[in-house]
Amino acid sequence: MRRALEELKERAFSDIAAARRRDDFLAVKTRYLGRRGLLTELLRSLKDAAPEERPALGKLSNDIKEAIARRIDEILSAIEETSKSEARVRERIDVTLPGRGVRYGTLHPVTQVMDEICHIFSLLGFSVAEGPEVELDYYNFEALNIPKDHPARDMQDTFYIADEIVLRTHTSPVQIRTMEKQKPPVRILSPGKVYRPDSDVSHTPMFHQVEGLLVDTNVTFGDLKGVLTFFSRKMFGEDTNLRFRPSFFPFTEPSAEVDIRCVMCKGSGCRLCKQTGWLEILGSGMVDPELYKVVGYDPEKVSGFAFGLGVERIALLKYGISDIRLFFENDKRFLDQF
Ligand code: FA5
Ligand code: MG
Repeated sequence: MRRALEELKERAFSDIAAARRRDDFLAVKTRYLGRRGLLTELLRSLKDAAPEERPALGKLSNDIKEAIARRIDEILSAIEETSKSEARVRERIDVTLPGRGVRYGTLHPVTQVMDEICHIFSLLGFSVAEGPEVELDYYNFEALNIPKDHPARDMQDTFYIADEIVLRTHTSPVQIRTMEKQKPPVRILSPGKVYRPDSDVSHTPMFHQVEGLLVDTNVTFGDLKGVLTFFSRKMFGEDTNLRFRPSFFPFTEPSAEVDIRCVMCKGSGCRLCKQTGWLEILGSGMVDPELYKVVGYDPEKVSGFAFGLGVERIALLKYGISDIRLFFENDKRFLDQF
């Protein structure tokens, strides 16, 4: 029995020497020391040994058991230690690595152009005023000298919410709302969304306007021309070609629309400018004295001008885009260019 025990010890240690990975060591442990292990089996025959030898054999097998267990446990904890320190190296944070870039979104081109328009006019002392998109018929039409059955209502197709409530067709109602609240001098700019049942390469049902209104004493048409020329040159460059074309609006007299040389065809005529070589960017004029009466200003004492810019039109011109509808399709390939 003693020989058998010694042999078993030797085999166990050579198995340990041959083992490589954690699982191998655990398997060796089970093979020799497990409940059905080789050492346990061998101990069954202890009862066959001479009674006087049993204590010594018992002690020997215990020593062997402990020796095997200790050796394996030492190796296992060494393995554990190594894999921990490897993990520490692997997972160490290198604070000197360059950071991962954060991808920011960008402002929509229409927003960018709107901000730029507001900036240019702020250089001339205009400050921002706002009004509602769902507007009373009164402010959108009536107070602007466009009575119910007036043919001028046909100039702007209209989405009606109810009899007296519309989606505003232009930003001009902000003129009235501002003058009702504020005595002259007035110098405001009003950016925002407007709505009309319109759709083709240069019209969308929702678009943006920026309204301007300046009322003071002794304001002339020359001031209007100067302000709009200043704006156009800042926006499109000092050599910009623009023209003031006589026009009609019920709320201004006299009135003018301002056109800019078509950016696509440079004036030779194309689909965008409907073969005219010019693109209308804004409507303008001297505020009609009728409006002063409506808001309680004295038409004998004050004068002023107003204008309404189409923001998308200006964005088309600035970036040389041929179809206004691209702004609202949310195609990332288009938007990423700005
Ligand atoms: C007006 O809306 C007047 N309220 C402008 C005005 C203000 C005149 C103050 C006098 C004094 P009009 O309907 O022409 O005018 O529109 C102004 C601009 O909006 C046009 O020059 C054009 O650039 C743009 N626009 C008009 N309709 C559309 C549309 N469906 N889609 C995109 N832009 C449009
Ligand atoms: Mg027009």
